[in-house]
Amino acid sequence: MDKIIIEGGRQLHGEVRISGAKNAALPLMAATLLCPGKHILHNVPDLRDTRTMLNLLEILGAKWEKVGETTLHINSDEVDKFEASYDLVKTMRASVLVLGPLLARLGRARVSLPGGCAIGARPIDFHMQGLKKLGVSLTLQQGYVEGAAEDGLQGGTVYFDVPSVTGTENILMAAVLARGTTIIKNAAREPEIGNLINMLTDMGGRIEGRGTDKLTIHGVQKLKAVEATIIPDRIETGTYLIAVGAAGGDMTLTHCNPSHLPSLIEKLRTVGLEIEEGDTAIRVKRVGPLTSVDIKTMPYPGFPTDLQAQIMTLMTFSKGLSVIHESIFENRFMHVAELRRMGADIRVDGGRAVVNGLGKLMGAPVMATDLRASASLVVAGLAAEGTTEISRVYHLDRGYDDLVGKLKGVGAEIRREKE
Ligand code: UD1
Repeated sequence: MDKIIIEGGRQLHGEVRISGAKNAALPLMAATLLCPGKHILHNVPDLRDTRTMLNLLEILGAKWEKVGETTLHINSDEVDKFEASYDLVKTMRASVLVLGPLLARLGRARVSLPGGCAIGARPIDFHMQGLKKLGVSLTLQQGYVEGAAEDGLQGGTVYFDVPSVTGTENILMAAVLARGTTIIKNAAREPEIGNLINMLTDMGGRIEGRGTDKLTIHGVQKLKAVEATIIPDRIETGTYLIAVGAAGGDMTLTHCNPSHLPSLIEKLRTVGLEIEEGDTAIRVKRVGPLTSVDIKTMPYPGFPTDLQAQIMTLMTFSKGLSVIHESIFENRFMHVAELRRMGADIRVDGGRAVVNGLGKLMGAPVMATDLRASASLVVAGLAAEGTTEISRVYHLDRGYDDLVGKLKGVGAEIRREKE
């Protein structure tokens, strides 16, 4: 297993190119299952999760080819299998995104039920309840959800108690080929869902309400293969913005979409960073000491839970108290114990963490149990005094394209070594 070693205290100066969004690439790749033909996806990030999804598509009968650095050609003419095994789902929960497309195309799907994960229970009951509303009969057999819709799917009204991102995507992909109209109420509004809706619309789907919490899908009989481009990764963008806040410096991020980060940018300005927003680029500069802020994670456009660990690290470099309230996942404070080992003063009380910013951290050997917690430790290591060694790097490989190369390019002293 590899580890990442960082000599902290180097400011970050220069330019970083942001990659395509993991959380958009995965549903768009799953959407290629919906109809035969050659689909072309641009700006696909090179990540462990996108490779897992390609593996899954191949198992289901699709063929694919990488063209250039970031373009994928996926041919789904021969998709005839309908099972996502436990082995795949346990390494990537988002494998569950094949459920909707398989039911829509083949009328059958068998997908392993994800277990708990490091950040909480994360059930898929909303996906299942929604699919039932579309006429799917679902049973649970030996840890697998088996769905069948022999006479095809039928439009229905789906209401989410809590807006679920992949839940909304699964229902969208099932409903585009259903008979009649489907309404999704309290739908998630993340930009990645907008990316999927644009692709489905180009394929011939009829969807109203993009960007709102009410989506209306008028089912069509046939879809066609299309060319689509993955939107920039807003969580990768946010992680680099926060890294400059912690380590200091002046960095421009290119090929990104700052309008997808309204809450983070607002908070970073309050913290005291100088930020210039363009349409596809953003410049961040640390100009002085950091002020503490309170944060509450919320569904989009609120503060993303996927940036909570990183902003908590930033708050350890401020002077003062900040309260960080995690409202999406119940167990997403696994990074706290590691940050404490680096000298952070953080108290956790249920879903709230109170950070007493001491203005500094000290390097230490650390490890993390999930993707974004690992990213928060990279931010910590970049700004800490001394050496930080981060193990279990495979978490970072799931979601950050060329993290070490990109950070080296802006002056970080960071390397990857075999353990
Ligand atoms: C997606 C993102 C993940 C992000 C999360 C929240 C992808 C591939 N992953 O995950 O990076 O952290 O959104 O922004 O896009 N819930 C249920 N039952 C369900 C589904 C969800 O109770 O059937 C709960 C969850 O436990 C959580 C909340 O609803 O408390 C929102 O989760 P959800 O939006 O579904 O997360 P994911 O789609 O799994």
